[in-house]
Amino acid sequence: MTEGDKSGMDSNAFSQYLTGIYQGGCVMLSVAIGHELGLFKAICEEQGPFSLEDIAGKLKFKPRYTKEWLSTMVAAGILHQDRDSRLYTVPEGHKPALLKNTGFGPVIITLSARADRIKKCFQEDGPYESPEWFDWFNGYRSNMGEHTVNSEILPLWKQQAHIIPRLESGIKVLDLGCGPGNYTNIIAQRFSNSTFVGLDYSETAVEMANKDKAERGLSNVTFQVGDAHNLPEDWTEGFDMVFVYDVLHDLPDPYKALKQINRILKPDGCFSLIEIGFHSDPVDNAGDMSAAMYYCCSMFICLASSMTEEPRVGYGACWGREEIQKAVLGAGFKISGDASLVTGN
Ligand SMILES: C[S@@+](CC[C@H](N)C(=O)[O-])C[C@H]1O[C@@H](n2cnc3c(N)ncnc32)[C@H](O)[C@@H]1O
Repeated sequence: MTEGDKSGMDSNAFSQYLTGIYQGGCVMLSVAIGHELGLFKAICEEQGPFSLEDIAGKLKFKPRYTKEWLSTMVAAGILHQDRDSRLYTVPEGHKPALLKNTGFGPVIITLSARADRIKKCFQEDGPYESPEWFDWFNGYRSNMGEHTVNSEILPLWKQQAHIIPRLESGIKVLDLGCGPGNYTNIIAQRFSNSTFVGLDYSETAVEMANKDKAERGLSNVTFQVGDAHNLPEDWTEGFDMVFVYDVLHDLPDPYKALKQINRILKPDGCFSLIEIGFHSDPVDNAGDMSAAMYYCCSMFICLASSMTEEPRVGYGACWGREEIQKAVLGAGFKISGDASLVTGN
């Protein structure tokens, strides 16, 4: 039995465990609505105890609906309500998490709305799904640029002594599967001596990327629509660095894409792969609720993308670090540490 395996629980304990899962799922829907309606923001702006009327009045909401939502948050232990004054409070120290962690809310709402489509995909004779899904996802992702670049991407690159100095001196970089280009543009702004190309399958993503580029007034980045499995022939040995963030597992044939990346890199080029770093064998993820969440999101998003075309390798988000490393080595790369393989949380 692995750590987190529930097979040793007696029937009562297991029943309680399951109840906790569906209770959390229901509360998460309220958290999602609260995030989308600006309720968490309104609450966190309050400097001290606040009333139902304060929040409903500020947002021009019906008090009765607002009360139901606030009561959910009190019952879930997310807010405190005083029995006598009826006022609500939230500890200052909880505010950053309330503002940031609830941002996952829109994903839950959108995934729920797609449940019927995904149910059809299970059927032998059902559809595989459509890559258009990423147009919604990229909209969601587009607000996260600064945070992800500063807290994930640059710290990982700093662990490899050569990357930042080369970017500063001026190299040619491809962001493969660039989505809305938010990372590409922010990085291009930081490293103005380097030139960047962002490529994505989705025309909508490339339009978003170009709009963001224009707003930032950048001239060292270009975006284009393309397929990671078939990169242009004249790109052979054309790039010093290829950067792939949260894309490889979404592809119907990641092995083919890895070979393409190897082809377009110069002999001394560098490949930065950032993937979700759970284990490849689901048994090794047993009891890890973060992995469970990613498997679930994967079924609705990543697996659906990686099954759209032949050969439908279909790894999904939890392809896992062991198998990814094998694939990267198999495509002819040398790995200089696993700093680019991050664990989702
Ligand atoms: C999870 S999103 C990641 C986007 C971006 N790298 C980010 O982290 O915000 C995956 C991206 O891969 C793109 N994609 C999927 N299949 C592709 C393919 N065959 N070639 C190029 N891009 C692809 C999708 O359109 C989507 O923008």
